[in-house]
Amino acid sequence: MSRNVHLCNVSDIPVNGMQSFKTGDGLDILVANFNDSYYAYSDSCPHQGTCLSEGFYDGAVLTCHKHLWQWDVTTGKPIGLAEASLEGYQVEIADDKLFVRPASALKMSELFADVATDTQDKLEQITRREEFEAGSILYDIGDVTDDLYILETGRVEFQFGRDDRITAAGFILRKGEVFGWAALLEHQPLRIARAVCVETSVLLRLNGEEAVKVLSAEPTSGYRVMRQLNTLITNHLTSSGGQ
Ligand code: FES
Repeated sequence: MSRNVHLCNVSDIPVNGMQSFKTGDGLDILVANFNDSYYAYSDSCPHQGTCLSEGFYDGAVLTCHKHLWQWDVTTGKPIGLAEASLEGYQVEIADDKLFVRPASALKMSELFADVATDTQDKLEQITRREEFEAGSILYDIGDVTDDLYILETGRVEFQFGRDDRITAAGFILRKGEVFGWAALLEHQPLRIARAVCVETSVLLRLNGEEAVKVLSAEPTSGYRVMRQLNTLITNHLTSSGGQ
């Protein structure tokens, strides 16, 4: 699905409740009501694929019944034990009709999810969407750190070393995951790892210098991104590294 799809009527959704619907191309999408707003997510738990519509919804928090991961229904962000966000869809309502389309990977990404919508839109305007075949090297050790990447679909592996002394250093596999973020940093001119597509992958590319220009003109959004970047760096330093 790439365009607006008429999923259901607003009146089909219980007040402060949720309902799952299947699209014409077989996707299961959960719609939840909170106050006067409606939110749509994949009906598949990001942990092990359980149907979220079989779980619990208290009118604000969605809970998967299998291992009790929870999410804020207004943002799709994890609460407590949950380790991954929900895959979201943008909702539009016309009369009683509710339409959905996939949320952009940039707006879903941890790095940019909290910035102002107009800043997100400016960043999307300077983003290039590209498809890479399995085996494509996105960047190699020693390459210039020009672009950062946001995964839309597929899987990317990081590797250290050269020739026959290659060590795998983790994967990027969730829509909205950001890598190559050294492009946003000063004094980090060269890549320290190789990034390879291990399956056909669609990626958003964002030039680091251009992104910093947009964020410098919007200090509140810029501050949020840099705070989130700090968290990403800390997480990677304590796990795989390789950005
Ligand atoms: Fe949903 Fe584990 S399958 S929390």
